[in-house]
Amino acid sequence: MKTVNELCRTILESGDLASKLLSPRDIPRLDDPMAPALHIDRPARGPSIRMRGGSERLPRLGELTGEGSRAVTLARFAHHEMMAVELFAWALLRWPEMPAPLRRGMLHALADEQEHLALYVARLEALGSRLEDHVLSDYFWQHVPAIEASANGPLAFLCSVGLTFEQANLDFSLLYRDAFRAAGDEECAKVMQRVHDDEQSHVKLAATWLARLKDPAQSDVEAYREAVPFPLSAARAKGRRFDVPSRRRAGLSEEMIEHVRNARPYERSEP
Ligand SMILES: [Fe+2]
Ligand SMILES: [Fe+2]
Repeated sequence: MKTVNELCRTILESGDLASKLLSPRDIPRLDDPMAPALHIDRPARGPSIRMRGGSERLPRLGELTGEGSRAVTLARFAHHEMMAVELFAWALLRWPEMPAPLRRGMLHALADEQEHLALYVARLEALGSRLEDHVLSDYFWQHVPAIEASANGPLAFLCSVGLTFEQANLDFSLLYRDAFRAAGDEECAKVMQRVHDDEQSHVKLAATWLARLKDPAQSDVEAYREAVPFPLSAARAKGRRFDVPSRRRAGLSEEMIEHVRNARPYERSEP
């Protein structure tokens, strides 16, 4: 693997776990010449990691004392990471014209997501389970057509992935860190802490580039609201435990933090 372009294509066009884990950290030069934009609708997935629509209920936090419940939860989180890897590869291919520092930041995040995926898979194996044993929902990929269709380009991506899904994970990672710890699984708790720590830098990447790429006349909240594609919104950018310190460390403005804290889901009457 010699170029970023080749790596991203291999990640998206190969259907096996090992290819999804090919690391950009092994590429000698990260600034390969600009390739034409590539539009990929769906990632390749072999039969054992095929995605499906919909998803099953996650076990309750109190059920995590059971190994089976922990495995279902870890598989869900592992698959979120796999989709995050693919989505960063997708964005790098889709918008080759993005500024070089943003592309490098995304590659760095992609490599982090691969490490998270590998950590979850290792924990799954320790529990005698495999990713292939679980239902894998295409939840993140369901939003790609709306990002692709958006006139806001990379801003739509940063607002969906970085400022919605990853911002929400600042909360979920702490909630599950403590739940795994309460269930006596300290190894899983450590993985959640690592994911939480890295997620701050991913949210920060999105917040930094929202500030740089938005219309200077707009606030970050105005720019987010304009660029995040329906049905995503600030209501999806949080979990039930709202963590302010990690949001501050991620560089989110107080206005953005309050906007997300107060956000309510769309009413059913909305389109
Ligand atoms: Fe991650
Ligand atoms: Fe992330």
